[in-house]
Amino acid sequence: MRLKVPEGSKGVLVKNLYLVIGVPKKNQERASILKRTMAKGEEVRNKQIILRDYVSGFPKESDMALKTSTMRLKVPEGSKGVLVKNLYLSCDPYMQSRMRKPDGASSLIDSFTPGSAIIGYGVAKVLDSGHPDFKEGDLIWGMTGWEEYSLIPATETLFKIHYTDVPLSYYTGILGMPGVTAYVGFYEICSPKKGEYVFISAASGAVGQLVGQFAKLIGCYVVGSAGTNEKVDLLKNKFGFDEAFYYKEENNFDAALKRYFPEGIDIYFENVGGKMLDAVLLNMRLHGRIAVCGMISQYNLDQMEGVHNLISLISKRIRMKGFTVFDYYHLYPKFLDFVWQYIKEGKIVYMEDKAEGLESGPTALIGLYTGSNVGKQVVVVADV
Ligand SMILES: NC(=O)c1ccc[n+]([C@@H]2O[C@H](COP(=O)([O-])OP(=O)(O)OC[C@H]3O[C@@H](n4cnc5c(N)ncnc54)[C@H](OP(=O)(O)O)[C@@H]3O)[C@@H](O)[C@H]2O)c1
Repeated sequence: MRLKVPEGSKGVLVKNLYLVIGVPKKNQERASILKRTMAKGEEVRNKQIILRDYVSGFPKESDMALKTSTMRLKVPEGSKGVLVKNLYLSCDPYMQSRMRKPDGASSLIDSFTPGSAIIGYGVAKVLDSGHPDFKEGDLIWGMTGWEEYSLIPATETLFKIHYTDVPLSYYTGILGMPGVTAYVGFYEICSPKKGEYVFISAASGAVGQLVGQFAKLIGCYVVGSAGTNEKVDLLKNKFGFDEAFYYKEENNFDAALKRYFPEGIDIYFENVGGKMLDAVLLNMRLHGRIAVCGMISQYNLDQMEGVHNLISLISKRIRMKGFTVFDYYHLYPKFLDFVWQYIKEGKIVYMEDKAEGLESGPTALIGLYTGSNVGKQVVVVADV
């Protein structure tokens, strides 16, 4: 297109910003032409965030790049996949492991393909479907691409969204993968009881803020650690933790834990690993439980720090169990009923950190490893 009104024309040349769904009557014909064109499989621009090459050590923004390609808005003939417009993308700590060269043994999930859009959890709207369970207009959450439009060939990782009177971005957090993680990690792995002493690291994040609120709901004493004073304030004044501390200011984690847990810790919800885990092991009570959810302090190290105090597991009869949310998605309907009720009653709140635009994705993702996110880190790609 030449960006110039033709000589003698009384028209205007515009750059379209938004197309309205509820169009005024006189524009309905134009909108329906547009819709028919899309239904025929119009080819559109598709901005993507790609991985340039495999990463070792801490990922950097420059390991990713913005690329513009094209996409036909139609599921290929015979495919059982869905074609979606991505609305929200989720930044999750495990994604760094997918940036690494596949090493076979230790990887839980496949590496990204250099040159292709990175993959992650997201919320999207179905534009075309080859699968009988999904139809145009459905809202879904699950694994999608870091791009404007994605063809998702296998629908097994997708969940249909039925409750829409909450921010749809919640399906990247409290109503999505981090929510299920907090729920199974706390209720299934920790077997909590009223009155127990609970400690949560990375406590203000996507998972931690929920674990703390779940623990308060059943009457536990709850302490969290976080990486800024602002986060500490949120833990105490927004999420209802009994206490919280700024771990970067503590030069002795053992002493800090003794200050907050003079009688010891019954449940540790482990998100960070390293020195914090070692200090916790010294402060666990008899028959304590440790849910090993994540160890973000170790993810990007070439050489992981060792853990020195594991011997406490024996003398204190501690149960320490690692888990991955992928094994628990069959509990999603039960979890959704449980958490939905509390959201509606205002008994659980959720804090998100929204980065605007697909282009902001790399910075937002990298920020997880320095703690720049305050709450669940989401990337806003488009309006419904
Ligand atoms: N097992 C599973 O299936 C599963 C599922 C989801 C998540 N996870 C794990 O759960 C943990 C929390 O995930 P999330 O999604 O809730 O992330 P998040 O807490 O929202 O974000 C990551 C946070 O980790 C903290 N952090 C970063 N580098 C750190 C370091 N070197 N030492 C200590 N803290 C550091 C930062 O908070 P501060 O500013 O407070 O330091 C940062 O904000 C992660 O370890 C993740 O891998 C596991």
